This record gives sequence, structure tokens and C-alpha cells, in this order.
Amino acid sequence: MTASKNTDNKAPEPIDFASIQSLTESEAQAIDQLILDELSSDVVLINQLGHYIINSGGKRLRPMLLILTAKALNYSENKHLLLAAVIEFIHTATLLHDDVVDESDLRRGKESANAVWGNAASVLVGDYLYSSAFEMMVRTNNMRVMEILSKTTTAIAEGEVLQLLNCNNPATTEAKYLEVISRKTAILFSAATRLGAVISDASPEIEKSLADYGQHLGMAFQLIDDALDYTSSKDELGKNLGDDLAEGKPTLPLIYAIEKGTEEQANIVIEAIKTGSRESFNAVYEIVKATNAISYTELRAEEEAQKAIDALSILPDSKYKNALELLARFSVQRNY
Ligand code: IPE
Ligand code: IPE
Ligand code: MG
Ligand code: MG
Repeated sequence: MTASKNTDNKAPEPIDFASIQSLTESEAQAIDQLILDELSSDVVLINQLGHYIINSGGKRLRPMLLILTAKALNYSENKHLLLAAVIEFIHTATLLHDDVVDESDLRRGKESANAVWGNAASVLVGDYLYSSAFEMMVRTNNMRVMEILSKTTTAIAEGEVLQLLNCNNPATTEAKYLEVISRKTAILFSAATRLGAVISDASPEIEKSLADYGQHLGMAFQLIDDALDYTSSKDELGKNLGDDLAEGKPTLPLIYAIEKGTEEQANIVIEAIKTGSRESFNAVYEIVKATNAISYTELRAEEEAQKAIDALSILPDSKYKNALELLARFSVQRNY
């Protein structure tokens, strides 16, 4: 648990992620098999690096969301497995590229692929994963599915580029930050849950509600990710802390600290964003804590999670709907 969490005296029930995972265990195994089949290439480096990142674990949250939404709608065919693998491929491709851009050398508790094989290999195998994802989605022979996924990957790329433009800019506003995380992260969650509805032939209302659920959950997820970059521990998170500051990324904890801090505090944070270095991490962390910027970020995440849960009211009660509610809560409570 991070020291700064749950300052409002309400001790929320800890979410048992493993028991949610067990609801989709057989599907998860089938998805992993699909992923492994798809990774087999006669190009040795693709095999090596691809297996390395996939076998490093990861929460597999996005595929789980797609499966759960389909099951909550009584989906009974098997296209959900292929699409869940597609979503995880896209996610993994973005991680390979992201670690190059962010110069991160730890991912999923292991050396990042770029740290092991270098930037060029990571970018190129990331491209391979993107291309494989498109090859796989074509197999669904469903134009709607292809439209959703191609729009999604375009938006993710826009989000990453927007973020690049904001780097080292301490004048970045909360609204601009929210725009970035909406595109770079939330939209893929939204695509996963929307696709669960699309393949189930759900009504437009249900499709919209489930897309909203994924979008809000994704916002909560990235808000917390940006808090954890300051408050978690390397061992729990499986990533290095301070990567965002090292890159001069103006995430919400910093934006809020600049707004609420004294002039002296604000100047330290502004300078840290401009220079983008790890050196001032401790000083910035103290300011972020003292200005309640972490609590504020968590509060915004909780609001998003609640909106996600509200969007589920259109679904009939089931253990799958219940799991979707818990995953929205998990996105806020998580420490990894
Ligand atoms: C990491 O996503 C990238 C973000 C959007 C913050 P996850 O935290 O889902 O990564 P894995 O797949 O579990 O490693
Ligand atoms: C999420 O942002 C990246 C993508 C959506 C690809 P981060 O840069 O915060 O993700 P982590 O912290 O490296 O996992
Ligand atoms: Mg990163
Ligand atoms: Mg991060």
C-alpha cells in the first residue's frame, strides 16, 4: 500500500484480483496459446524478443475486460479469444515503443526489451506485433471490428505524439494532460469493452455504455499509473519509479503541485519538468506529497472508476458484471 492512499478514513475492501482472473482462466489460457502461435516467426529475434516480453507476464487486463464484457452479454462463440489476443498484441507493441521513447529499462519486473536488445530491435519487433495484430483482426472478417481497432491505434499514436509535445513544458494544463491519457491509454480499454459488445450483437445503447465503461476505467488506470510513478516501489510495480520525471513528463501529480504549491515549491517542480532529470526526484516527491497532489490524482481516478461502474447499470446482474465493477475498483486500488 502506498502511504498516501485512503486518506479519507474509508478503508475500501481490498480487491482480490486473482479471484477475478479465475473467472476467465480457461479463456486466458486459450488467449496465451493464440499469442504464442502468432509469435512464431522464422526470424529469430522476433521469436526471442516477442516471447521475452509476453512471458514476462503482465496483468492481461485488457483481454480480460473483453472476455468479461462478452460473457456478461452471453456471447457463446469464440471470436472473443482472437480479439483479446489482438488487443494484447497492440498493448504489447505500445509498451515496446513506449519504453524506447521513455528510456525505461525495467518492465514487468525484468530488464526491458530495449535494455536487453537495444532500441532498434524494440521498435521493429513492436512494429511486427502491430502488423500481426492487423493480420489477426482481418481474420474476423468483420468491418466494424477493423474500423474500431484501426481508429484506436491511430488515436494511441496521436496520444503518444501529443505527450511528446507536452514533455518539458511545465505550462501543460490538466485538460491537456487528460486529452493525452484519454488517447494513449483509455481508448484501448474502451476498444476492448466495445468489441465485447459488438461481437455479441448488442444494441447501440449497450455498445455505447460498455465503451464508456472502458474509457472511464482506462482514465482511472492511467491516473493511478501516474501516481504510482511517484509512490509505488520498484519491486511492486515492476517498473522504475521516477521515469516520468526523468523524461520531464507533466503528469497530473506535477500539474497539481505547481498549482497548489508555494512559489518556491512550484519553481522546483517547474525546473524539474524543464530539465527532465531524476536528480530532483526526492525534492519533487516531497512537494507532490505536501500539496496533496497524489490524493487529488487518486480522487480524480476514483471519480472515473465510479463513472465506469455507473455505465454498467445497463447490464443484467451476473458474476461477470460484478467482476467488471471490481476491475474498475482495482484500477484505482492497485499497487502494480
Ligand atoms: C502499462 O499497462 C501501460 C499503461 C497504460 C500504464 P499495464 O499496467 O496494463 O501493463 P501490464 O500489461 O500489466 O504489464
Ligand atoms: C502509458 O504510459 C504508455 C502507453 C499507453 C503505451 P506510461 O509511459 O506511463 O506507461 P508505463 O508507466 O511506461 O507503463
Ligand atoms: Mg512509459
Ligand atoms: Mg507510467
